[in-house]
Amino acid sequence: MPRFIAARPDSRLITLPWDVPLEDWPTDSLVALPRGISRHVVRFVRVGTEIYAVKEVLEHLAIHEYRLLHDLTRLDTPSVEPVGVVTGRVDAHGEPLDSVLITKHLQFSLPYRSLFTRGVRQDTVNRLVDAMVVLLARLHLIGFLWGDVSLSNTLFRRDAGSFAAYLVDAETGELHQDLSDGQREHDLTIARTNLFGEFSDLEAGGLLDEALKPLVLVEAIENRYRDLWSELTGVEEFDGSEMHRIESRVRRLNALGFDVAELDITTDFAGSTIRIQPKVVDAGHHSRRLLRLTGLDTEENQARRLLNDLDYFRARTDQQNADESIVAHQWLTEEFEPVVEAVPHELRGKLEPAELYHEVLEHRWFLSEQAGHEVPMIDAIESYVSTVLRGLPDEAIVSATGDDGPALANPYDPSQGFADDDETKPYDPWEDGDEAPEAGPEATSDFLDIAALRRKAAASKASRIDDEAVG
Ligand SMILES: Nc1ncnc2c1ncn2[C@@H]1O[C@H](COP(=O)(O)OP(=O)(O)OP(=O)(O)O)[C@@H](O)[C@H]1O
Ligand SMILES: [Mg+2]
Repeated sequence: MPRFIAARPDSRLITLPWDVPLEDWPTDSLVALPRGISRHVVRFVRVGTEIYAVKEVLEHLAIHEYRLLHDLTRLDTPSVEPVGVVTGRVDAHGEPLDSVLITKHLQFSLPYRSLFTRGVRQDTVNRLVDAMVVLLARLHLIGFLWGDVSLSNTLFRRDAGSFAAYLVDAETGELHQDLSDGQREHDLTIARTNLFGEFSDLEAGGLLDEALKPLVLVEAIENRYRDLWSELTGVEEFDGSEMHRIESRVRRLNALGFDVAELDITTDFAGSTIRIQPKVVDAGHHSRRLLRLTGLDTEENQARRLLNDLDYFRARTDQQNADESIVAHQWLTEEFEPVVEAVPHELRGKLEPAELYHEVLEHRWFLSEQAGHEVPMIDAIESYVSTVLRGLPDEAIVSATGDDGPALANPYDPSQGFADDDETKPYDPWEDGDEAPEAGPEATSDFLDIAALRRKAAASKASRIDDEAVG
């Protein structure tokens, strides 16, 4: 009899064929979804409306990974969510089988390989790299030593024109109180090796833009990580006449998607030198706020975008002093939901609702710019659906056998490669610059460009001073 370890077990899982090696599971309960390369056997199963990822692995490793994923979820760190471990499996002849780790399938997630099989623009690669760097810094901030940083162990979700990265494989991880510089360097060394290998692989397969070089990419990741880390934790010293630098620091951190819970501010005896260091840096402020107000569970950039729209709605309807949660409810039912519902049913699997709403806002902005006046929302949706959305691949459940990419030798096991190694790259509407609306003006090309953020802060300060001088 197999034994289940789970915090909130889904009883329907008990009926799965645990006495059969995962590799031989009948395909009727399996779902063919894109996934990364792995040493272990991994399959996706559908149980009712839920999709789970099932990985066959040694018992102690399964339990270790289950616990770590639990801790990461509890600490609000982007990772896949653990569901349980099944141990004590035996086959029909009484022979023992490996244990199994079950996680929730991360909806709308894309393994990097499925982003690259279509060929990607340089800009997209930069945004992927940024998401990866933010994930690594977030893990390090909470004391998580990953031990196996790689693109295959990361999943990506679209986040308002950019990407959010999730940890998918915690097998080698360790959670500490704090990480020493040496421990972080250790993770970086591993990252360098793994990522170089992965980018070189893509290059050898002709999937990497000619302008991109594995070594340059790996160095960029390392440099951006170091910049971000020093922005997050570095000590800054200045004199008393430059108090605005405290605010600038907070703004820059916010712009990077981090919250500053506390700043450690110390002054010297004469009070002329001030040192600041962000104390507790936390992420996900906007998504938590949006979740609290509307129940929408989104990525951070999507949340920021939706909250801006909510603010705009509040101003437009002249409800500055009304209760925030009431306005949020109005916005949800009068603005957000009608847009999502205006999309024909068969196209709903193309994009997650928050990303869809974001895209429609971008599209409307773009149309209004062209028209020279504000285009009504209803027209913007119609145009978006017919000119953009229809052409996009499904992301909810991208069938690995479908017509949206090369056919796999075994749709339930992408590690076996493609059925026919046809060299031509299929057309990817995501990568078509003419059709895909670009990210917003404030968006993400300078996402981790700290120098640019500094320049921006300096410029806005200069313009404030100018305004004051005029006024
Ligand atoms: N919960 C999940 N949601 C979506 N995809 C998942 C999930 N769990 C696993 N995957 C997919 O399966 C792949 C393999 O999972 P994982 O990295 O845990 O296996 P592994 O055999 O331990 O890998 P490694 O070879 O690095 O040890 C991942 O890259 C990911 O694409
Ligand atoms: Mg892995």
